[in-house]
Amino acid sequence: MRSALLALCLSALPSVFASSSYGAIEFNNLGFDGYYRQVASISNEDTSECTCALSTDKTAFSGKNAPLNEGLSVHFRGPLVLSQFGYYVSPSFTHGSDSSGDWSRLAYYDADSSTAENVTFLTNAGTNSSCLGKALTYAGSDGISSAQNPTVLAKDTKIVSDQEYTIFSDVKCGSSGVNNDCGVYRNGIPAFHGYDGDIKMFLFEFEMPKETTVSKDEVSYFDMPAIWLLNARIPRTSQYPDNGNCSCWNSGCGEFDIFEVMNTTESSHLYSTIHDYQGTGDIENGLQADGYIPRDTTGSMKGGVVFDSTGTAVVFMSNSTSITGNITASDLNSWIKEAGTVVTDTLSSVAPAATSSTSKKSDGSSLSSKSFLSNIGFSVLSALYYLTI
Ligand SMILES: *[C@@H]1O[C@H](CO)[C@@H](O)[C@H](O)[C@H]1NC(C)=O
Ligand SMILES: *[C@@H]1O[C@H](CO)[C@@H](O)[C@H](O)[C@H]1NC(C)=O
Ligand SMILES: *[C@@H]1O[C@H](CO)[C@@H](O)[C@H](O)[C@H]1NC(C)=O
Ligand SMILES: *[C@@H]1O[C@H](CO)[C@@H](O)[C@H](O)[C@H]1NC(C)=O
Ligand SMILES: *[C@@H]1O[C@H](CO)[C@@H](O)[C@H](O)[C@H]1NC(C)=O
Ligand SMILES: *[C@@H]1O[C@H](CO)[C@@H](O)[C@H](O)[C@H]1NC(C)=O
Repeated sequence: MRSALLALCLSALPSVFASSSYGAIEFNNLGFDGYYRQVASISNEDTSECTCALSTDKTAFSGKNAPLNEGLSVHFRGPLVLSQFGYYVSPSFTHGSDSSGDWSRLAYYDADSSTAENVTFLTNAGTNSSCLGKALTYAGSDGISSAQNPTVLAKDTKIVSDQEYTIFSDVKCGSSGVNNDCGVYRNGIPAFHGYDGDIKMFLFEFEMPKETTVSKDEVSYFDMPAIWLLNARIPRTSQYPDNGNCSCWNSGCGEFDIFEVMNTTESSHLYSTIHDYQGTGDIENGLQADGYIPRDTTGSMKGGVVFDSTGTAVVFMSNSTSITGNITASDLNSWIKEAGTVVTDTLSSVAPAATSSTSKKSDGSSLSSKSFLSNIGFSVLSALYYLTI
């Protein structure tokens, strides 16, 4: 009886908490004054003695969209086919204002014409290390093998579940060092800058077909494709470290998941999540918007994410999107409008780092403090509200 009742309660839960489908997802009030800790040193990287240390100095950030206003790398996980990618900047774009700044394209990949301007394809196909995982290398034309030189992804390249590649700009990093342009990075990798700008936009044309190549027990992320952004410092040291001190991720240097399948139960829902410490101590779960964009497993999809001048980030999916050289503010606003209903989440304002961050920031070894920190996140989720247009 008791278990039957429990089952009844549990089965009622999804309908109460299930989130809904939207054409666009908006995060308001994005950006705060805070800091993270960058990697200060990596030692013995290719032996079992491998270890890393985070800087004892704080790396401060502030302003609209911070820390996502820093250089970002763009990540892809299969099953996925990428047809086009564009990175844009604007002097003053404001979501909803047609008279605000227009956009210029500063990076472009087009599979049809094999164009790659200011685009470098990298992948984790290098030497494995006990603390850092596999090193970044240039990706071959299949996106996942290692190449000696920058190589353009071949048209119609499909990566399957668990496979990933990353796009960086073509601007090379200076030498590795805490005070240098790219900070400390892993020895021997092709190190490039991410995509900079307080006001920036990433557009994609892509497919996320159902997984048919590999089986569920061969992979960790079965049929869970994703496109996401990381503070480019993260992959340059270690995207998947065994030691949290080998990355600035735990201390909140920033991740933005644009279109991400979270689990196989909801394999047709693309969620957006921010992983930093703006109003949450739970870096692992981050702040997921309360709604999703449908994944089209048979057609192609167009859309992306815009970080505007007011600290609003808008993720949208709209077939009106055109990844052309210059985009006017009014065209972009109309594409977002044509995407359909918007779910709006407002991030909480965070007091200046000096007062708030000691209790909220992890020291980079956050695995032990994860469950404690996760309690803080829910107060923010309860502040979410909906806006329907
Ligand atoms: C890399 O090495 C670690 C142990 O040093 C091991 O646990 C892991 O499975 C290896 N990864 C790959 C992809 O071979
Ligand atoms: C390439 O992208 C980088 C990173 O944002 C930017 O600084 C640079 O100006 C871009 N290059 C060109 C030629 O637009
Ligand atoms: C990370 O660095 C901190 C501070 O130096 C240290 O206490 C901790 O043991 C390190 N963690 C690992 C896994 O090495
Ligand atoms: C799948 O992910 C969604 C979004 O994070 C979540 O709401 C749902 O509870 C998850 N379902 C399962 C079975 O884990
Ligand atoms: C968008 O266009 C693609 C390519 O023509 C098509 O496969 C897809 O079904 C369209 N999606 C919508 C929502 O109309
Ligand atoms: C964008 O517009 C500017 C100014 O009109 C022009 O100089 C530039 O070439 C255009 N860029 C592209 C990629 O078309």
